[in-house]
Amino acid sequence: MMNAAQLRQSFLDFFATKQHRIVPSAPMVVKNDPTLMFTNAGMNQFKEIFLGNTLAVDKRVANSQKCLRVSGKHNDLEEVGHDTYHHTMFEMLGNWSFGDYFKNEAINWAWEYLVEVLKLDAILLYATVFEGDKQDGLDRDTESFNYWTRHLPESHVLNGNKKDNFWEMGDAGPCGPCSEVHIDLRSEEDKKKIPGRDLVNAGHPEVIEIWNLVFIQYNRKASGQLELLPAKHVDTGMGFERLCRALQGKASNYDTDIFTPLLDKQCELTNLKYSVSEQTDIAMRVVADHVRTIAFAIADGQLPSNVKAGYVIRRILRRAVRYGYTFLGRRESFLSLLIEPLIETMGQAYPELVAQKGFIIKVIHEEEESFLRTLETGISLLDKIIADIKASNKKVITGKQVFELYDTFGFPIDLTDLIARENQLEIDKSGFEVEMEAQKQRARNATSVQTDDWVIVTPDEVEEFVGYDYQAVDVVITRYRKVKQNNKELFQVVFNVTPFYAESGGQIGDKGRIVNATETVEVIDTKKENNLIVHLMVSLPKDPFARFTAEVNEQLRQQVACHHSVTHLLHKALREVLGSHVEQKGSLVSPEHLRFDFAHFQKVSDEELKKVEALVNLLIRENLILEEHRTVPMSKAQELGAVALFGEKYGDVVRIIQFGGSIELCGGTHVGSTGEIGLFKIVSESSIATGIRRIEGVAGGKAEAYVEAQFELISELKGLMKNPPNLRKSIELLIEESSSLAKKVESMQRNMIAVEIKELIANAQEVNGVLVVSTQLSPALSDLMKDFAMQLRSQFKKGVAVLGTQVNGNPKIAVALSDELVKIGWNAVEIIREASKEIQGGGGGQPFFAEAGGKNIAGLEKAMNKALELIKAKL
Ligand code: SER
Repeated sequence: MMNAAQLRQSFLDFFATKQHRIVPSAPMVVKNDPTLMFTNAGMNQFKEIFLGNTLAVDKRVANSQKCLRVSGKHNDLEEVGHDTYHHTMFEMLGNWSFGDYFKNEAINWAWEYLVEVLKLDAILLYATVFEGDKQDGLDRDTESFNYWTRHLPESHVLNGNKKDNFWEMGDAGPCGPCSEVHIDLRSEEDKKKIPGRDLVNAGHPEVIEIWNLVFIQYNRKASGQLELLPAKHVDTGMGFERLCRALQGKASNYDTDIFTPLLDKQCELTNLKYSVSEQTDIAMRVVADHVRTIAFAIADGQLPSNVKAGYVIRRILRRAVRYGYTFLGRRESFLSLLIEPLIETMGQAYPELVAQKGFIIKVIHEEEESFLRTLETGISLLDKIIADIKASNKKVITGKQVFELYDTFGFPIDLTDLIARENQLEIDKSGFEVEMEAQKQRARNATSVQTDDWVIVTPDEVEEFVGYDYQAVDVVITRYRKVKQNNKELFQVVFNVTPFYAESGGQIGDKGRIVNATETVEVIDTKKENNLIVHLMVSLPKDPFARFTAEVNEQLRQQVACHHSVTHLLHKALREVLGSHVEQKGSLVSPEHLRFDFAHFQKVSDEELKKVEALVNLLIRENLILEEHRTVPMSKAQELGAVALFGEKYGDVVRIIQFGGSIELCGGTHVGSTGEIGLFKIVSESSIATGIRRIEGVAGGKAEAYVEAQFELISELKGLMKNPPNLRKSIELLIEESSSLAKKVESMQRNMIAVEIKELIANAQEVNGVLVVSTQLSPALSDLMKDFAMQLRSQFKKGVAVLGTQVNGNPKIAVALSDELVKIGWNAVEIIREASKEIQGGGGGQPFFAEAGGKNIAGLEKAMNKALELIKAKL
């Protein structure tokens, strides 16, 4: 029987024999598609080919793609763990035809692979075909039906509706009818009771879909209409984990060798057994599934965080921790301990896991620890909520409270419900839903972008980027559309050819303008949408059919180039000074500054920073000439030791940017030689997440301005100090003087207090054996009011002091009682609480000393008198 690794390979080998090129999986985290956060299907990376915006290099490709279905149209999160065949992250085995073969070959090869190569029993298989849809004006897919019935009896070929048999990537985009292969893995006995065909697409855990063959022919437009694509394509996707289960004859995906090492490790760590209790089993499956997702996301450069994709990953991690905490009794972090077995299983197929093992473990461990602390806090909060509800004889935890626990402490509603029920309480589920909907609405409002359909101006043009060689070029508009974001209307415009660099690889998009004899329109930003370079404009040209010269703002471009090239030098210098574990984890290159995030586990010391900066400046002075190699085979680039980034999508042919010993795969724009950068200055170094440091810096003219500002500051300081010959010495002297003055002032104040106290005590009233002192301190001594009170207390055996003062024009009062009075039940706090009403204030303290500030200075004397009255009444 094949193991998982052999099975994956057999799929790729099979399609290689059918002249498919085997391509790597695209990163799981999507960077250039505003409609998608994560790769949710193997076809995502080919979207632009389907739409006709990019030409396919190969007409047939196949791969195994890491997919994540946790947000948007395809979201399986809630099923994961509770059933045995859905996953957050899974591998999709796919074969594609770009305008080449179609239904006949796709169906024949699917059959050949499943039945002839893998030797799955044909009788277990069912195929579905699209039954047609009136609303979309689509007929039944009889063609596919005819192809399938060459292999399967008619009773095994079923009609399916639009929901199951018309595949769409999202609300808009490429789509088409699909034909699914299902497999019946039930026992012979069960099969006799109900025929498999009745259970296809009916949510039965043992009659499951394994392969989806999509015949992409349409583009669903934003208006909802279907538009015929220029060519017909095939997009297939087979659930690798499900196929593995079918082939290995297991009852669950989790019983295959993809998951068993992760379950075994959990059993070892928790001393629990799998397959004993439903609840424990679910938790173990959740943990096994989620740990894969988290590890793959981190390897792709997506760390858990509080925003966007990072937040999704954080929530998945927390979900796993919670299941471990609640159902597996884990109070300490343990997810990171599963990385070792995970990498043993998956590392060969996905080397990015092996290369970043230490980093992945560290990030998960820290995240988990911090969430466990949050969880404990949440549990104490819930305890308090429950105690309050019980004290007020109520029975329900409000929707708002349940939501707060969910949103802030990651408590799922079922956990809160469980704890509530254990305490004979209920939770307000519908109130929770209301809060949840309100939050979703807030999120929708914050991110909602309405995009109209493209208006085609010049058809059949595939856009070309020429910005490495030209900063101005004649263009025509090929398409445009209106977008509305935060109630602002903008236009996205695409040209036939463009010098504008679209934001990517950390480098921000070019700005500039398009001009002709009659008008000028600003380009305010340039972004990529998949492979399309989209120029953002505030308005459309009056005549979109005219020719224009597209001009990049050269000054901004040059500043960006300085910051981009210096980022490469910084990367190189960091690796030299700190070590080769320094991996780039993010960057921002703008005209103003650069930001470089990298893996490193401790603060970079001042000395190290100095070394790094000096090394970068040395490389600048060496005036290294840019060596740009535009089309280098990936294998050659690897041989040259070019630095590639995890989570970036590279083709077989890559661009290399080399400055001396710094060799990186990079698509950005750069200076011609490092001398152009002039100067580099590090502005700050900080931590941004577990194991990730950030350096911010400036180069070129911006570095000059930064240094200039520092010099100006020094000269201003010199002016303030009256231009001394040695500024540092003068400042040191000033600090010394000021601290010795402070000491003198303090001791003088003490003496003053001592004298005043002596006088006060000598003149104090004694009422029934209790010394009563009352005085207003000058505002200059207001800071010392407490000291004053304490010294007084230490002087009297049985006494009370009422003090008043002003702080910035506001009244303040204090009451101090000697210990003997406290012992008999007097309480300064009670007196202060009453008296402070006169100054419209409040405060507190302890029985022997309490103070209060207020707003009404006119009431200061009244407040002190009130305190005295209260005291005297006790005597
Ligand atoms: N795109 C289709 C799916 O995701 C087939 O690959 O199911």
